[in-house]
Amino acid sequence: MNHKPRDGFTSTFGVLVATLGSAVGLGNIWKFPALTGLNGGAGFLLVYLLATLLVGLPVMIVETMLGRAARANAVSTFEQLEPRQGGWKIIGWMGFVAALLIMSFYSGVAGWVYAYIFKAMSGEIATTDPKIAGAAFGQLVSNPVASLIWQWVVLGITGGIIMLGVAKGIEAVTRRLMPLLFLLLLILCARSLTLPGASEGLAFLFSPDFSKITPTVLLTALGLAFFKLSIGMGTMLTYGSYFRPDQNIPATTARVMLADLSVSLLAGMAIFPAVFAFGFAPAAGPSLVFMTIPAVFTSMPGGTLFMTLFFILTAVASVGAILSLLEVPVAILTERFGVGRKQAAVYTILMIAALGIPASLSNSTMADVKVFGMNAFDLFDFLSSNVLLPLGGILICLFVGWVYGLPQIEKQLSNDGKLANAGVIKAVFFLIRVVTPLAIAVVLLHGLKLF
Ligand code: TRP
Repeated sequence: MNHKPRDGFTSTFGVLVATLGSAVGLGNIWKFPALTGLNGGAGFLLVYLLATLLVGLPVMIVETMLGRAARANAVSTFEQLEPRQGGWKIIGWMGFVAALLIMSFYSGVAGWVYAYIFKAMSGEIATTDPKIAGAAFGQLVSNPVASLIWQWVVLGITGGIIMLGVAKGIEAVTRRLMPLLFLLLLILCARSLTLPGASEGLAFLFSPDFSKITPTVLLTALGLAFFKLSIGMGTMLTYGSYFRPDQNIPATTARVMLADLSVSLLAGMAIFPAVFAFGFAPAAGPSLVFMTIPAVFTSMPGGTLFMTLFFILTAVASVGAILSLLEVPVAILTERFGVGRKQAAVYTILMIAALGIPASLSNSTMADVKVFGMNAFDLFDFLSSNVLLPLGGILICLFVGWVYGLPQIEKQLSNDGKLANAGVIKAVFFLIRVVTPLAIAVVLLHGLKLF
């Protein structure tokens, strides 16, 4: 047991900002558009919306609840809430692994964003020509030295911030700049939607072709829902452990979910009309954002300035998400192994840097090293988003629904009866006991072709 007083968020608003800071990140700006383009557009978006509402939100609510109930890291929480069944702490260890895997490629992509700040300033990417834009991106990611150095810059900066501690580090960084990013996305949307040929992009995004919804598409959308809300691996649990006792968990998480969705949708509406207007390939994958966004800025006044600002703000948005990912292993290492916070941060960063080498070299030196037909970057992404997070989600639901039990859930989610939200609690309980875990299991087994 740990009796040291724990660091925590200092205000209800701070909690909302930090949680939002974890959810909003490269997932909205980079991953959501890339996957939507790769998986056929509107059909994928529809499934993703359903997955977010029926699976993502309930899991987010109960995961956050567990952390606040135990006030501990992702491993110890399960030990404390159910001392007689030690096996549940596997959820926390899976989260530990997932955090490292996600960070190994996420920090690489953040590195590309940092590099693009300078490319934007130099005018190198001020083009609407898919060939030139593709070449600029290719040059960066196929350069092993540049990829690694940018990744290490990201790891150095974020590792430094995490050493400062929860309240100071996380709140201070994420509080101010988010609204500006939102504004810039709005401007981008306005420009993109008024390009000639924009309607084709809107149709791609909003008029579904149901024949494109395969088991793989379903699993990818589900994986994205987990990834977007930072759930299934203990991030929300760890953040929940810093929540205040008077925080309304269902309301806070629902707000974060809605805000997060709106950022993704804005990114989608900024990108897809331009994709069709300029003749980019919607299924370009990880390079999509890095080619299309500069093209939209290039076609408006003050483009260079706004483009630079956009990549700076995206880099800032990625920091909030990265801090929340790092916090999972850091909290486990400090609270379970008694290492200091600084030391824990250093160990975590070193583990990620090691895993990050194959991920970052996936487009250059190690492009031909494949496992299950995937390079390291794709493999780490697949294993984390499409396997570990959904699996963690199932286990969290089963733990809460069948072990933790309704009386405790009612007490926790109503803040000891102070909130009048009995209906919400009933709905959450109903979902996470059977519906949500079953839905995840079916999609997971189907998507992995195990049944
Ligand atoms: N949600 C973040 C994004 O979309 C990424 C992220 C942060 C994350 N913490 C996480 C993903 C935990 C999965 C699990 O950019």
